[in-house]
Amino acid sequence: MAEANKADKPKTRSVITVPQIRASKVRNGSEPLVMVTAYDAPSARVASEAGVDLILVGDSVGMVVLGHKTTMEVTVDEMVHHIKAVARARPKAHIVGDLPWMSFHLSPIDTVTNAAKLIRAGATSVKMEGGRKRLPMLKALIDAEIPVMCHLGLTPQSYNVMGGFKIQGREAEAANLLVGEAKAMEAGGAYSILLEGVPDVVGKMVTEAVSVPTIGIGAGSACDGQVLVYHDVIGLENRFKPRFVRSYGTAYDDQVRQIAQFTSDVRTGNFPGPDESYLAKDELKEALGLYGSGPDSQ
Ligand code: KIV
Repeated sequence: MAEANKADKPKTRSVITVPQIRASKVRNGSEPLVMVTAYDAPSARVASEAGVDLILVGDSVGMVVLGHKTTMEVTVDEMVHHIKAVARARPKAHIVGDLPWMSFHLSPIDTVTNAAKLIRAGATSVKMEGGRKRLPMLKALIDAEIPVMCHLGLTPQSYNVMGGFKIQGREAEAANLLVGEAKAMEAGGAYSILLEGVPDVVGKMVTEAVSVPTIGIGAGSACDGQVLVYHDVIGLENRFKPRFVRSYGTAYDDQVRQIAQFTSDVRTGNFPGPDESYLAKDELKEALGLYGSGPDSQ
């Protein structure tokens, strides 16, 4: 009987660990990893309930919710603020904190100091943009016991250098260089590689070349996982729709309709109704002389 009860218990999902993520290669039989961004507690709760493996508190917060043109305006303190909000939701997902621009460019010491702030805010690992030239920072982070996801390909913090958000690795030489960068970051200790904005064959080349998982965004179907921005998935971001986005909802239109209905209800006197009001007890009405003073007094 006791055994039967044990078997009936719903399995509680546990948060995927860094070693488990590191071992998640599709070619070895793993399911693809699923990651979405989240920047606040409600979206972290939704992502967790939906069963994603990882939540990225990305510096895309700057563009998606803070109204900036690029991610480069985002500061460490802002990242800390958003990571704390996500962590407070206690999602059943690994939280990756994104190192913003200029938080890992000056020195290894500076990098570890900034990354530690993201970890103390509630992230389990950090993401860092760039390849070989970041190896000293990668080593310092690994030495400080901070797991690192490296971000290669289209790195949004290189917006000015790239001349915009440009697909990378379009020529054979660039594609081969990218494979070299990925191998270098794997050898340097990265536990996974986020690959953004590269042709699908390049996503495949990189994925085949490394034994840590690749998580793609606009990098084709051969990657070991996929990530999308939360607001793109639910259709709340309606200003740009990059080719790689698949939208599963119409949150922007839905919310406009809902807020417009509220606006109309208030203006027409339809809100609040009795269901949304704290109705006074009879004694209070009596004490206030509200009975019998007119046709509507009851
Ligand atoms: O900051 C972010 O959200 C990202 C995504 C593009 C994956 O890096």
